[in-house]
Amino acid sequence: MDENECVLGFEWPIWKIMSSLTVAPSTENVPNHPSLVQLTYVSTRVAHLQDDDIIEMVIKANYANRRDDITGCLWFGPRRFFQVLEGPQDKINRLYRKIRSDTRHYGFKLISYSTIEERQFSRWSLAHVAHQEDQVIEQLILDYTGSDSHPVSEQSTSVSEKNLLQRIIDRLRETLLKQADSSATSD
Ligand SMILES: Cc1cc2nc3c(=O)[nH]c(=O)nc-3n(C[C@H](O)[C@H](O)[C@H](O)COP(=O)(O)O)c2cc1C
Repeated sequence: MDENECVLGFEWPIWKIMSSLTVAPSTENVPNHPSLVQLTYVSTRVAHLQDDDIIEMVIKANYANRRDDITGCLWFGPRRFFQVLEGPQDKINRLYRKIRSDTRHYGFKLISYSTIEERQFSRWSLAHVAHQEDQVIEQLILDYTGSDSHPVSEQSTSVSEKNLLQRIIDRLRETLLKQADSSATSD
């Protein structure tokens, strides 16, 4: 038997087999960035939580989100939270686990979780909008969650709810952009 006729049972020079095993894996299809995801949820505020406590929490969250390349927006009403978070998948997953175990709210409904090409809140590490600032948003969120007087249901999301979700996101962005414009012109 020829020295190159190896145990693999076919005639192939051993150097060819070795080089085929040592070729570095192609990096062509490996993305440079971890995938970007967007997550939205609604939850219910605990009764004693004051608006000022929320603002204080948002200020801290802004630092942490900036560090982790996370952007988003938190809307708060008299009883509900609605939050959009965007960023690298691993960072968003970790933050969502933390937020879910935060005792300042309960009764979560994860509305959406999907990979995205671009961010919708790229200008804000965590913007906040209070319900008094725009009643249309409050109404859209109430349309989504149903009456304020019972916990949000965990039912799956229908197509019409997806449209409603996009309307809420669009309206939040419009409100934030208007606020940014008016603070720029008052400077
Ligand atoms: C409604 C709500 C939204 C929150 N959003 C964020 C957020 O976007 N980023 C963040 O770092 N923390 C957010 N937090 C706070 C986290 O739950 C947590 O307290 C914070 O990340 C500090 O966690 P640590 O002390 O374990 O680091 C949110 C909390 C609540 C109740």
